[in-house]
Amino acid sequence: MSQKVKKAVFPVGGLGTRFLPATKAMPKEMLPIIDKPIIQYAVDEALEAGIEEFIFVTGRGKATIEDYFDYPFELIQTLKNRNKKDLIKEIRDGLLKPGQIAYTRQQVPQGLGHAVWSARSMVGNEPFAVILCDDLIDAEVGCLKQLIDVYDQKGGNVVASEIVPEEQVSRYGILEGKRLSPTLMKVAGMVEKPNLAEAPSRMAITGRYILEPEIFSVLEEQEPGAGNEIQLTDALVTMLSGHDCHAVVYDGTRYDCGSKRGFVAATLAFALKHPDVGPAMPEIIERICKS
Ligand code: UTP
Repeated sequence: MSQKVKKAVFPVGGLGTRFLPATKAMPKEMLPIIDKPIIQYAVDEALEAGIEEFIFVTGRGKATIEDYFDYPFELIQTLKNRNKKDLIKEIRDGLLKPGQIAYTRQQVPQGLGHAVWSARSMVGNEPFAVILCDDLIDAEVGCLKQLIDVYDQKGGNVVASEIVPEEQVSRYGILEGKRLSPTLMKVAGMVEKPNLAEAPSRMAITGRYILEPEIFSVLEEQEPGAGNEIQLTDALVTMLSGHDCHAVVYDGTRYDCGSKRGFVAATLAFALKHPDVGPAMPEIIERICKS
């Protein structure tokens, strides 16, 4: 029986250069999709999956993330004076409990693997989840819950995966291995950003992981890889020799909110579903497209 996954690491130390100049003064994780910052969607997904402890690996210029999860005393008081009970409830419901949330700094953004390694003492010796909040996944059953369900049966490392179109394989880490079902693969290898001709499959790694704590000692020894950064994928490949790794083709729609195009697509998709603005959206979109 696998140990329960109780902790999630949120690497939010990246520079977000694709959103400059906005990210000069604001972390990209705080950009809102309609009325919730991107990071809140990731935290909600983790809560749904039963995560109890939230570890944020931050960096310079990310202090507003800590402020966001703090208790906004003055705001609550002002809303009380204005009798805005619904808003108070919404804000309180979004808060994590004291002690449920911890922050550490990556100091220098040296890659995703380095960000995960920076959380080693907070995670300790237990399996944990990693959520890249840039990948906003809209799913009936949250993507992380889908991964944890597989981890509970199989143990080892578990990565989220998506079947990508042929023309996109060169943008992703691509998996090879034995398909156990249409949605599950026992991973035997991973190739970072291959040409289509060299790609072993069209199963791409996306931004959710369940990792065994042994990953930390592997990351400790890891040489910089692509982009001269410590790559999480490289550490996962090293671990394949002693640990099982499964890939789950999750059920859901992913928006890459780290790119402008994905961010706009997510905004439109969530706007269409939003009770306040959704009903007006088709007409707004039609008008814009015609003009
Ligand atoms: P990205 O590759 O999207 O990099 O990181 P980035 O720096 O955030 O954004 P761009 O490319 O400059 O626009 C993928 C995820 O890994 C985290 C990021 O915060 C993002 O969630 N990350 C990346 C770190 O936490 N630390 C790093 O050193 C690198």
